[in-house]
Amino acid sequence: MRIAVLKERAAGEHRVAATPETVKKFIALGAMVAIEQGAGDGASITDAAYRDAGAEVTTGPLAVEGAEIVLGVQAPDPLSLAGARPGAWVAATFDPFAARERVEAFAKGGFEALAMEFMPRITRAQSMDVLSSQSNLAGYKAVIASADAYGRAFPMMMTAAGTVQAARVFVMGVGVAGLQAIATAKRLGAQVSATDVRSATREQIQSLGAKPIFVENVAGIEGEGSGGYATEMSEEYQAAQAELVSSHIAKQDIVITTALIPGRAAPLLVSDAQIASMKPGSVIFDLAVAQGGNVEGSVADESVVRHGVTVIGYSNTAGRLAADASALFARNLYNFLSAFWDAEQGRPVLDEEIGDAVRLTRGGRVVNARLME
Ligand code: NAI
Repeated sequence: MRIAVLKERAAGEHRVAATPETVKKFIALGAMVAIEQGAGDGASITDAAYRDAGAEVTTGPLAVEGAEIVLGVQAPDPLSLAGARPGAWVAATFDPFAARERVEAFAKGGFEALAMEFMPRITRAQSMDVLSSQSNLAGYKAVIASADAYGRAFPMMMTAAGTVQAARVFVMGVGVAGLQAIATAKRLGAQVSATDVRSATREQIQSLGAKPIFVENVAGIEGEGSGGYATEMSEEYQAAQAELVSSHIAKQDIVITTALIPGRAAPLLVSDAQIASMKPGSVIFDLAVAQGGNVEGSVADESVVRHGVTVIGYSNTAGRLAADASALFARNLYNFLSAFWDAEQGRPVLDEEIGDAVRLTRGGRVVNARLME
C-alpha cells in the first residue's frame, strides 16, 4: 500500500497533509509513504525530517506512481494523479458544493474522492474532523489578527498615565471557531459578548465568561438543524436579530463573525449601516468571507476601511498557522484511515456510516447523497 502526499498547489496554501509523526504511524501500519519534495516547506517541515521518519521524498509524478491513497489538504488536480492505481482514494477537502466540476473530474478519473469536510459530527469521528481542527485555529487567528489591526489594547490597564479601557469584543456565530474566538479574546482581557441562532450555545457562551446576546420570543428559536448545524432562520427571526444586533454592535470595538450554514452561502449578519454605527478605529473580522461573507463589503485577503472601520477576512485563516494546522489536519487523516485499517488486506476498509458520508465518487460516478439533493 503506497500513500502519496503532494505539495499543495492552491495559492496561499501553506499546509501539508502529512507530518513526520503521521508518516511514522502509517509506516507502522505497513504502508509506504511517498512525499513530493518541498511539500512541508510552508509548514516548516524539511524533506530531511520526512526522510528521517521513513518517507520516500521524490518528485510529484514519482510520488503518485502506483499510489493507492493520495492525501491532500485541498484536493489536488485530478490530472496530476494520472500515475495512481485505478480506483485510488483521494482524501482531502473538496469544497464539494462549490466545486462540483472538480468532483465530476474525480469521478471521470475513476478515483474514490473522500471529502473530509463531510465527516459526520458523531462522537467517534471527532478525532477525524478537519472542520473542527481547522476552525479552532481559525477562531484563534481571527482574534489575533483583529487585535493587531486595532489601534488600542485589549486588556484594561491602569497605569500612572491613566487607564486604558478594555476592548469590547462581539462574536457572532458560536460554533467551534466562535468558541475559540471567545476564549482567545477573554485571555487577552477583552469584555466579550456573543450570539448564535442555536439556543444551545447560550450556556457555552456563559461558561467561557462571556455575555450571551440572544433574540427572545420569536418562533423557531432553536435554530438547530441536522448534525448540530444551524438552519436558515425565518424572516421574522432575521428581522428581530438585525434589530438586536444593531443596538449592540454600535457599542463594540471588535466584531468577529463566524456564521456558516452548510451547503449555502454564509448569512449576511452585519450591514453597511451597522458598520457605519460603530466607532472609527473598530475592527471587524469576517471568518466566513470565503463562503460569501457575513459582513457587507468584506473582501477576502484585503483590509477594507468602511466608515472608519477596518473590515478583514482571510480566504484561508487556518492556513496562516500552517505548522499547527498541518499537524492537526494530518492527525485527522491518520485517525480516519487507521480507524478503518484492515490488517489482513493491508489497507483501510470504510464502514457504511462514515464511508457513505465522506465518499463523493466511486466507479466513475458521483455517489454522495448530499450532492444529489
Ligand atoms: P459552522 O461553522 O457550520 O457555523 C458556525 C456557527 O454559526 C454555528 O454555531 C451556527 O449555529 C452559527 N450560525 C449560523 N447562522 C447564524 C446566524 N444567522 N446568526 C448567528 N449565528 C449563526 O459550525 P461548526 O463550528 O461547524 O459547529 C456546528 C455544530 O457542530 C456545533 O453544535 C458543534 O458543537 C458541533 N460539532 C460536533 C462535533 C462532533 O460531535 N463530532 C465536532 C464539531 C462540531
